[in-house]
Amino acid sequence: MSVSRNIPFLDLVTPHVVLENELTEVFRKALRTAGFIGGPMVEEFETAFAEFCSAEHAVAVSSGTDALRFALIACGIRHGDVVLTVPHTFIATTEAISQAGALPEFVDIDERTYNLSVEKLQEYLEEKCTRNDSGALISLRSNRPVTAVVPVHLYGQMADMDGILELAEEYGLTVVEDACQAHGAEYFSRRLNRWMKAGSMGRAAAFSFYPGKNLGACGEAGAAVTNDSAVAATMRVLRDHGQAHKYYHDVEGYNGRLDAIQAGLLTAKLAHLADWNALRRERAAEYNRLLAGNDAVVCPFEPSWSRAVYHLYVVRTEDRDGMMEHLKTKGIGTGIHYPVPLHMQKAYAWLQYTPMDLPVARRVASEIVSLPMFPQLTAEQQALVAEEVLIFTSGISHKPVEAAATVASLAEQTA
Ligand SMILES: Cc1ncc(COP(=O)(O)O)c(C=O)c1O
Repeated sequence: MSVSRNIPFLDLVTPHVVLENELTEVFRKALRTAGFIGGPMVEEFETAFAEFCSAEHAVAVSSGTDALRFALIACGIRHGDVVLTVPHTFIATTEAISQAGALPEFVDIDERTYNLSVEKLQEYLEEKCTRNDSGALISLRSNRPVTAVVPVHLYGQMADMDGILELAEEYGLTVVEDACQAHGAEYFSRRLNRWMKAGSMGRAAAFSFYPGKNLGACGEAGAAVTNDSAVAATMRVLRDHGQAHKYYHDVEGYNGRLDAIQAGLLTAKLAHLADWNALRRERAAEYNRLLAGNDAVVCPFEPSWSRAVYHLYVVRTEDRDGMMEHLKTKGIGTGIHYPVPLHMQKAYAWLQYTPMDLPVARRVASEIVSLPMFPQLTAEQQALVAEEVLIFTSGISHKPVEAAATVASLAEQTA
């Protein structure tokens, strides 16, 4: 049996074809009831997703960005506050902070997990902040009050929440999790001596259901979860033009509701999420095995307290661009998540960071490459990806004639 070399970075077609009947039924139901906004399909999804996250409330909204913005506002983040987060994330994290009226300030990441470094956070709070006369924590960088921290569970692996929560308690900070890539990820809390789900540890948390996420809608969608009923109630008002009762507006809100059709599709797919996540973990373990012993490639590090759900499988290598080009010529899709850390983005030039302010994020961004990762990825496809990675890093790819022969013989072995 020969294996196609066209290995996509992500296959979004297969899971939808497999579930076509179930998903089509959702459309039929919506068409027959004309229930397009709110209603039972949204409520059913909210109940199921809250349960999945071990959270008391889920508020379905129109995107992960809205979820994070509403969560921050509902948790009391005020105009002019400073919210600490990482530079190594998708820009939606800081967009939500800015759109909530706050100012993002960056803390560097841990070199192994690529998530917020607890040590750097402590250093920031101790050395880059001071207390004013009334005891408020003030950023020396901006002279504004620091009130919250947004850890991002990037690539589906949770940030080290125990340390973050301890510091947050000590410094009076609100913790809002950006769990947009981490549906179902788990963290072993040494403080509580049990495994905790992503989204259940902060005051509130945001999830994205952008189509390529572990749980993806067939369009834009998101949800915020919380154990705080007041925060949940405020988020419900914010997503619906500031109204708890039709046409009675306590505040100005947003048009941030989730469509009933997307909610129905998400409920159908949620039933498969645990299995899909388990498959992602198997694929990650297989990549780790296939790439083990190769000094030129750094595989993802999963601490003992982490059960990651591998939204992305990200390796590091010195000649990242060369590797991507090589894989492309072999029909293998890859991605970079993310090529430019936020402190070096044009959009944040006004914050006046220098590249060296956050050296780990800067270095990591220049070396990372995301390999194909999705639940339906086959063992044969993975073997081919790993072979091409190994061929490239061993330098054989720089000798075209020999490379062609080696690739052919390796392909035979796995065919
Ligand atoms: C880390 C992170 N935060 C926030 C978001 C925003 O989610 P959405 O695209 O649904 O608005 C994303 C989505 O890609 C993300 O990856």
